[in-house]
Amino acid sequence: MQPRHFISLLDLTSHEFRDLINRAIDLKNNRNPDHQPLKGQVLAMIFEKSSTRTRISFEAGMTHFGGSALFLSPRDTQLGRGEPLQDSAKVISSMVDCIMLRTFSHETVTTFAKYSSVPVINGLTELLHPCQLLADMQAYFEHRGELKGKTVTWVGDGNNMCHSYINAACVLDFKLNIACPDGYFPNQAIVEAAGDRISFFNTTELAAENSDLVVTDVWASMGQEEEQKKREIAFKNYQVTSSTMQAANNDAVFMHCLPAHRGEEVTAEVIDGPQSIVFDAAENRLHAQKALLEFLLCK
Ligand code: CP
Ligand code: NVA
Repeated sequence: MQPRHFISLLDLTSHEFRDLINRAIDLKNNRNPDHQPLKGQVLAMIFEKSSTRTRISFEAGMTHFGGSALFLSPRDTQLGRGEPLQDSAKVISSMVDCIMLRTFSHETVTTFAKYSSVPVINGLTELLHPCQLLADMQAYFEHRGELKGKTVTWVGDGNNMCHSYINAACVLDFKLNIACPDGYFPNQAIVEAAGDRISFFNTTELAAENSDLVVTDVWASMGQEEEQKKREIAFKNYQVTSSTMQAANNDAVFMHCLPAHRGEEVTAEVIDGPQSIVFDAAENRLHAQKALLEFLLCK
């Protein structure tokens, strides 16, 4: 039987997503060092790209649960020398209990999942970043409660984070207003699958009107560093400022997956201001992924 993977938020029902959020909140508020459901289990973590939060949260989470995590860089394994993904997935999954990958190509993760005998978790690809959404949604629920029927505003690049927000809008049933410049729209198939939940706007203020949560991300993602200058020009009017936040509802909150560039996609005033819950969301990577590991490995 194929193991249960977590490649996209669309792999979860809305009931499962809400259960994961509630379990993450419970794990955060009632830490029990004796709860070690993954004792002796091993998570392999394959990172083609840099990471602070994803690496530390998965490694700490496995340790809390009595298991351990292996950091694997393609540079130091045969993956970097061209060993086929299919063979690597079969071999690695024969030795560990779960595999987390952060890769450039989304297909690397889906291929791994196809040939893995254990659950595969997407720790970010060029297309999606579903683990971050578990943490962000947990933070919103903690601060403001349910998102169903509310409005979220995405400002900036139609990138992996934007795609995962679109998926979250489908699973949790909220509206998503997107302000992004021409040429940087999100993937059309992902947008179309979300139907009339998604609307596009030309300014951050128009997109933020009646919004309960404002979110942004870097203008140039990992792997796009050489486009930085070109993107600074394209995105110059797509910065979250206090004027954007003023257009949103009074009790709106602000999130960013981090790392952030103050003065580019967001002003320091907003990200370090009273509406920002970015550091709560960052901490939640730990709690949300512990809930995810339990969900995938303890059933
Ligand atoms: N937000 C996020 O995924 O952070 P890292 O790149 O540090 O893992
Ligand atoms: N969009 C960013 C997210 C980093 C966590 C990137 O892919 O680099």
